[in-house]
Amino acid sequence: MSTIATPDGHNTGTAARVEELLSSMSLAEKAGQLTQYFYFGNRSAEPEPWADEQSRQVEDALGHGRVGSMLFVSDPAEVNRLQRLTIEGNRLGIPALFGFDVVHGLRTIFPVPIAMAASWDLEAVERAQGVAAREARAVGIHWTFAPMVDIARDPRWGRIVEGAGEDPYLGAALAAAHVRGFQGGVLGAPERLVAGPKHFAGYGAALGGRDYDEADLSDSEFWNVYLPPFRSALEAGAANIMTAYMDLNGIPPTGNRWLLVEVLREKLGFEGFVVSDANAVRNLVTHGFAADLTDAAARAVDAGVDVEMAISDPAYAHLEEAVAGGAVSLEAVDACVRRILAVKLRLGLFDQPYVDEEHARSTLADPAHREVARVTAQRSAVLLRNEGGLLPLDPDGLRSVAVLGPLADSKRDTLGPWAFDFDLAETVTVLEGVRARLGESSEVHHAPGVRPISRLFPSIFDQFPANAPTQPDNFDDEAELTRAVDLASGSDVAVVVLGEWQNLIGEQASRSTLGLPGRQLELLQAVVATGTPVVLLVMNGRPLDLRWAAEHVPAILDIWYPGTQGGHAVADLIFGDASPGGKLPFSWPRSVGQIPVVYSHTMSHDPEKQAERYWDEPSTPLFPFGFGLSYTSFGYSDLVLDRNELPIGESLTVSVKVTNTGDRPGDEVVQLYLHQRYGTASRPVRELKGFRRVHLGAGASRTVDFTLGRAELGYWNAAAHDHVLDLTTFDIWVGGDSTAGMSASFSTVGERAPQKMTNG
Ligand code: NOJ
Repeated sequence: MSTIATPDGHNTGTAARVEELLSSMSLAEKAGQLTQYFYFGNRSAEPEPWADEQSRQVEDALGHGRVGSMLFVSDPAEVNRLQRLTIEGNRLGIPALFGFDVVHGLRTIFPVPIAMAASWDLEAVERAQGVAAREARAVGIHWTFAPMVDIARDPRWGRIVEGAGEDPYLGAALAAAHVRGFQGGVLGAPERLVAGPKHFAGYGAALGGRDYDEADLSDSEFWNVYLPPFRSALEAGAANIMTAYMDLNGIPPTGNRWLLVEVLREKLGFEGFVVSDANAVRNLVTHGFAADLTDAAARAVDAGVDVEMAISDPAYAHLEEAVAGGAVSLEAVDACVRRILAVKLRLGLFDQPYVDEEHARSTLADPAHREVARVTAQRSAVLLRNEGGLLPLDPDGLRSVAVLGPLADSKRDTLGPWAFDFDLAETVTVLEGVRARLGESSEVHHAPGVRPISRLFPSIFDQFPANAPTQPDNFDDEAELTRAVDLASGSDVAVVVLGEWQNLIGEQASRSTLGLPGRQLELLQAVVATGTPVVLLVMNGRPLDLRWAAEHVPAILDIWYPGTQGGHAVADLIFGDASPGGKLPFSWPRSVGQIPVVYSHTMSHDPEKQAERYWDEPSTPLFPFGFGLSYTSFGYSDLVLDRNELPIGESLTVSVKVTNTGDRPGDEVVQLYLHQRYGTASRPVRELKGFRRVHLGAGASRTVDFTLGRAELGYWNAAAHDHVLDLTTFDIWVGGDSTAGMSASFSTVGERAPQKMTNG
């Protein structure tokens, strides 16, 4: 048996053992393997009768071999108890897989995924998710429902915080980095998890940014924009994929054979297992797609949904009926079961189904994890404005500092959404970070200024402890605002932390506007009016309306939801112990009416007036994609292409010299953009096709190389219904954001276009 558990990925013993198990299983046992239940146990903030009832139902199912997998359990003792029930409850002793949303950390919480994307630092992301995997695996979790690789071009959509933003190239690079971090080099590696990129596919294109609403994608958008991150995650080895909730071009993904078989398995070559999103198989009925639960189960299995994630009453409990009635074949069910059993074997679960609770405790307490969180948060921050070099602040020159705003001392908000097993006691807020950095040398005062705002409609996460902010007792709005402004008046500098409370973003947290919620803008304006220099720290997971701030506040640093060590990381940055080097992973709109605003639009008619598409406001973003300042400055020179005529299908090398022209060390993200001048389709004015984050000492230079080959120059052509390479001329630009000015060009030469590329 131990040979099967070896994580070599090619073990023939696995296939034989799978067949052996399969041949002795009844159809009901097979359906059980394909069923995943939520198990909430004692997670609710308040004892909830429905949760108790649900737990009872799940335990009953476990005891009767009707469960193959569970999610939402992260207490090692509970994992062991439930695993024992599972193993003893099925004749063949098949262990359960435990899954969980380990999105940006388990106990050690890292910056939210959109922040990690803003680091443009693939190694930092891989390292952070490696730590997340280590903690999760130690408590008995085998599989994470992450990364979310949905492209998001509408910031009203709350789930933009979970992904990498608007760009398919950046998104693809990030997707692979997350997968490498979570899963390691090979499925079954120690201290790693199965990675499950989601939500396949197109979820981020929800109409109006309204979570769960339908997405209508053109062929070109589907292949060129929404699929590349999935392709990249799969190439990095992701062993699982989760389906999406909404209708994609009128068909729910969970029952879409074209999407899950032709695209996912045949075109992208996926060999892992597919899980539905929660209740999404049952929802095939809700959508008006399946006639009943039996039909839903049959169509999901036929489309290749191996596991149904369910809260209760799974549709897959009707599989026996579906097979008996001929709605789905036994072979299709067996194919799903094979994939699940293979994963369990390759993870070594049959040999080692239980976890060591003592080891779990010491792993979660590892101080090295907190250090990784601090560095990741430093690297994620994006400096949006720094008039007169206000930042970094000189700690020795400060007599008193006012740290203001409702998010300045909120531990839960510092962590961001999709965190459940955090330790609030060890979470460092901005106020705490500033106090720790300044010690006794300066006075640090705090006032929230405004109260938390309440959502008009509650969130599905309100049931979890500490998830929604509580309203403070006896909060006198006018007096608190005045107190904050008075503190600003009496201080050398005001550090104001504003943004969105974390329960205002994430799943079921879309909004129709982008303003700072509540009276935060009023607070900011009053603080700026005191004349005290103001540093605005934005705590967010999506762009907010910062038009006023971008004109009136001298320093703006986007700190996102920076995680467990957020306060220390922010203090490192604002006092100059670390230097901001992050860049925006989306175009930052001026106002909600501009949405979607994307840098990679096509040339279209009248490109000279691109900035004047509206008569009442520039149609350019407030801050462009890829933008971010530094405490130092960078210059570019020596842009060299190794050839100007490229035989079609071959690669060329672009090199450029980047120099730190300032007097402090700092990081620059060197970015390369491409435009195809003409061809068999009109192509975007610019598309990111290469980037590298480099650290340079004051005055230092480095030459950075990029390769442009088939993957970068090809694209999906809606007329050819395939990926093509055109005979054309390309322009490239290199610089520090998507408005980069330094350019060169080259042409492809060879046979007449288009050149089809099989499978991209
Ligand atoms: C629903 C969400 O859409 C998905 O992303 C998540 O993984 C599951 N719930 C499980 O929590």
